[in-house]
Amino acid sequence: MARGVKSVYCPDRRGKSMIRQADMIVLGIETSCDDTCAALVRDDRRVLANVARGQADAHAPFGGVVPEIAARAHVECLDRLIARALADADLDFDALDGVAATAGPGLIGGVMVGLTTAKAIAAVRKLPLVAVNHLEGHALTARLTDDVAFPYLLLLVSGGHCQLLIVEGVGRYVRLGTTIDDAVGEAFDKTAKLLGLGFPGGPAVEDAARAGDPRRFDLPRPLLGRPGCDFSFSGLKTALRHAVEGLGGGPDEKTRADLCASFQAAVADVLAERAARAIDIFHDHHPDARTLVIAGGVAANAALRARLARVAAEGGLAMIAPPPALCTDNGAMIAWAGIERLRLGLTDGLEVAPRARWPLDPDAAPAPGAGVKA
Ligand code: KG4
Ligand code: ZN
Repeated sequence: MARGVKSVYCPDRRGKSMIRQADMIVLGIETSCDDTCAALVRDDRRVLANVARGQADAHAPFGGVVPEIAARAHVECLDRLIARALADADLDFDALDGVAATAGPGLIGGVMVGLTTAKAIAAVRKLPLVAVNHLEGHALTARLTDDVAFPYLLLLVSGGHCQLLIVEGVGRYVRLGTTIDDAVGEAFDKTAKLLGLGFPGGPAVEDAARAGDPRRFDLPRPLLGRPGCDFSFSGLKTALRHAVEGLGGGPDEKTRADLCASFQAAVADVLAERAARAIDIFHDHHPDARTLVIAGGVAANAALRARLARVAAEGGLAMIAPPPALCTDNGAMIAWAGIERLRLGLTDGLEVAPRARWPLDPDAAPAPGAGVKA
């Protein structure tokens, strides 16, 4: 065996065992929302190819993702995207050691497209299949990009989720808090929709906020100062709508910027305070651990990254955030989660079912709100 190449025990789905080497290559497929993504990642943390096709134009007229349109768009382009990823890496299917696909949580039609495609490739090529939890893909990305050691504290902020978790290992999560109503990315998207900034809203709100005055509108900071690590964003959304209605006419460009800056400042305050509480709990559990990871699409936001880096430093932690392109949905994070699972021999059979809901910590107590997200 070549120097520096370690062997990894990896039982395949028929119960036989095989030896994989450190240069194993996994295809990752992500189709749980409105981006069709395929990537090839190698066990040494090299991303060999990472391609995506967004659907923003198809959903823009509706101001949000339409599940049926999303599923059809995934069907139309996934096979070409996989071929493109292989071409970018100058590889063919023979080079693959496994195939991983998001199996949930997400829009079920899209998840079915990606998972079924992965099953077909696994069956024809006789490859191990890994059914990946999309949230685990986000959660483990910092190990791909920065080789972060377990355990670490994770703030997962995306279009469907807002959670604080302790990541103890692959498949081992302890949820400290979650949203009791809207996800934080959803709040960004609704703010953008209200202000006519287009879809997806997060980057547009962040852009507009740069020129705005964060003190002009006094918006609420839901749950700030309350015990626990849960989040709430619906009151903020409503307050913003009232602020717009109170203007007595559509906002001009300056007012729009001020609204975005005020909204983003409120979100930053809430995330910072809840993260600080979680850091205290994390220290109690793991006094020697040193890292706060932020992940998910909203973690692409530069203002929020800067604020959370300060909170982490105050709590004695280093903040690690993947580069923005690996915060928003991508295939590399699914391929990487596949590699982490394959290393542990955690593969799935072809009968594995897609899941619309799939919490990372199934034992967590339900959050005390109405629209509990899992
Ligand atoms: O992780 P992601 O790509 O998909 C989900 O798993 O939901 O997250 C998408 C969310 C959207 O709500 C989008 O508006 C938000 O992430 N987002 C941002 C930024 N970029 C994307 N929110 C705030 N600032 C950004 N720069
Ligand atoms: Zn995501």
